[in-house]
Amino acid sequence: MNSAVDTISVARSALAEARSAVVLTGAGVSVESGVPTFRGAGGLWKTFRAEELATPFAFERDPKLVWEWYDWRRQRIAQAKPNPGHHALVELERRISEFLLVTQNVDGLHADAGSREIVELHGSIWRTQCVGCLEVRNNREVPMKSMPPRCRCGALLRPDVVWFGEGLPPGALNRATRASQKCDVMLIVGTSSVVYPAASLGPAAVHGGAQVFEINTEPSDLSLYYTLLQGKAGEVLPALL
Ligand code: OAD
Repeated sequence: MNSAVDTISVARSALAEARSAVVLTGAGVSVESGVPTFRGAGGLWKTFRAEELATPFAFERDPKLVWEWYDWRRQRIAQAKPNPGHHALVELERRISEFLLVTQNVDGLHADAGSREIVELHGSIWRTQCVGCLEVRNNREVPMKSMPPRCRCGALLRPDVVWFGEGLPPGALNRATRASQKCDVMLIVGTSSVVYPAASLGPAAVHGGAQVFEINTEPSDLSLYYTLLQGKAGEVLPALL
């Protein structure tokens, strides 16, 4: 039962029999759409790591620098289209009666592909929030005309995403945790499993008795606890259907 083909058929049967499934995705699912990951090769922007820029402190210190990074990501994402991995998850949702897609990605590509039941744990890069009046608005301006952008009220706008040290959107984590605890099967796709609380959803599913399969080009921090289907999301996910 060691070969990749055997493991894929085990996962395929588990999904075929599942009444409820949760899929947790990370940046790796969008790599084949041309969106860079946060860690590993290509993860750096200029010389900065995500942990240095995706924080309220970095924004307070240098909002223009933080916005330049987001503007760069928005330009990459604006050109990206969903890939076969995103499309396979739409089909999986169609087949399984209780299905929830939990994503750490802020790129919106799952919704573009047609997935419906989505929890965006880390917000959306396509919304802004005013740091003064707190108004949240959709914003598709690419590239941003003024840097850093400002609200109608005059205060700075920030991306409506979750930064290190901030809480997740109310309700999102609860819904994701509840579904993870009671699902039959979980797929964990393209995440390094180092950022919590998202990374705790896999262990919650294992604890609840689910079969948990991980799809990643390389082992992650938590692979030990899952069945690893090593390969690209855009190839492995369609093979599971
Ligand atoms: P990471 O950049 O940490 O990890 C991406 C994962 O995708 C790695 O484990 C890669 O091995 C894997 N990978 C790369 N290409 C792949 C492919 N084609 N198919 C499958 N897997 C592939 O990204 P995340 O785990 O999503 O948060 O990062 C978690 C959070 O950290 C992000 O949501 C973001 C970041 O800082 C915030 O900004 C709050």
